[in-house]
Amino acid sequence: QGMFTYDPGFVSTAACESKITYIDGGKGVLLHGGYPIEQLANESDFLETCWLLWNGELPTAAEKEAFVEKITMHTMVHDQMASFFKGFRRDAHPMAILCGVVGALSAFYHDSLDITNEKHRNISAIRLIAKMPTLAAMAYKFSVGQPFVYPRNDLNYSENFLNMMFSTPCEDYQISPTLAKAMDKIFILHADHEQNASTSTVRLAGSTGTNPFAAIAAGISALWGPSHGGANEAVLDMLNEIGDESRIDEFVAKAKDKNDPFRLMGFGHRVYKNFDPRAKVMKQTADEVLGELGLDNDPLLKIAKRLEQIALEDEYFVEKKLYPNVDFYSGIILKAMGIPTSMFTVIFALGRTPGWIAHWNEMIADNSRIGRPRQLYTGPTQRDFTPLDKR
Ligand code: CMC
Repeated sequence: QGMFTYDPGFVSTAACESKITYIDGGKGVLLHGGYPIEQLANESDFLETCWLLWNGELPTAAEKEAFVEKITMHTMVHDQMASFFKGFRRDAHPMAILCGVVGALSAFYHDSLDITNEKHRNISAIRLIAKMPTLAAMAYKFSVGQPFVYPRNDLNYSENFLNMMFSTPCEDYQISPTLAKAMDKIFILHADHEQNASTSTVRLAGSTGTNPFAAIAAGISALWGPSHGGANEAVLDMLNEIGDESRIDEFVAKAKDKNDPFRLMGFGHRVYKNFDPRAKVMKQTADEVLGELGLDNDPLLKIAKRLEQIALEDEYFVEKKLYPNVDFYSGIILKAMGIPTSMFTVIFALGRTPGWIAHWNEMIADNSRIGRPRQLYTGPTQRDFTPLDKR
């Protein structure tokens, strides 16, 4: 028994070596390939960041062009996928649909099953990045009873996603460059975050040699919970429930009450004991987007800002170093764009896909052993079976 390190929640266990992402939680620093997240969010774009995560360097102009072209050529999903979607209830949560359809890609691309072949691994990675927006938008379209919109090759990644979400056969969606840019920024801000629960899940599932679609479907399932990616949806539900600035104190008191399971959603982080640098960019983006849409006075934004201010000054939150995290402001931006709350975590999944793939690739390149944690057994010691009539 004494042979193992006991570390519930993996608070102090490094399960792998990685070159992809560096976090200094005390200082609030996040770097991908050495580049600060703020610079990537403001100066790069999502596909370029994806290349960086996969290759460790920024692409040259020629590499970038070829990569974007390749992604663009794989955005369509097999038409049979449409019947797959139609098998779900219309009121299904889009994350429930996403878990199913991403795993199901392995039923369409048999080459994904052979992960020993680098060519097969690469094409599966491209397919995932290319098809996630199509699948995510299909989940939304199905839920609102509108026809699926095919991807368009003349649009960039984020424009294409917004177009598949919002255009209809009767009316083209007018893509605002500010909103498309904000969408792209949201994807970049979610692109990777080293060994978080969903990425660790992808690594653990992938360590068995399962195919990448199955491993990433496992990651999507882990992301769904409110302690992880589901927090962005939970933040908006919470802000709606607060409803008015006058009720903030009541909710802050609930969050501090040890006998109440309620937590301030979008606050706190396992690694950051300072401001989450992604939250800072997100807050600025929220101001830009709501400004562009003339929603500066949005009541939810006001409640969010006031809540943040109160929590940052409150002794409980200060002492426990609980700062706003990436999920705190993202929902307000997405809502302003017209995206329903149930799609928020789907968008997180879309943004996190390059990170999941980067870690899966790194793990395979490192010839990792199967992930197999041990336990400290606390059950009964050996005893003899009791027949039913004696129990
Ligand atoms: N509101 C009130 N109290 C909190 C909160 C919160 N949001 N977060 C942590 N605490 C308290 C917690 O009760 C505990 O107190 P004590 O030491 O007295 O028992 C202390 O702070 C430490 O919390 P913990 O649960 O031990 O910390 P953790 O590292 O296990 O959990 C967390 C991190 C993110 C799950 C947690 O802070 C939380 O539940 N936050 C709300 C959900 C959320 O916003 N999640 C998104 C995380 S960031 C993006 C992502 O990963 O998806």
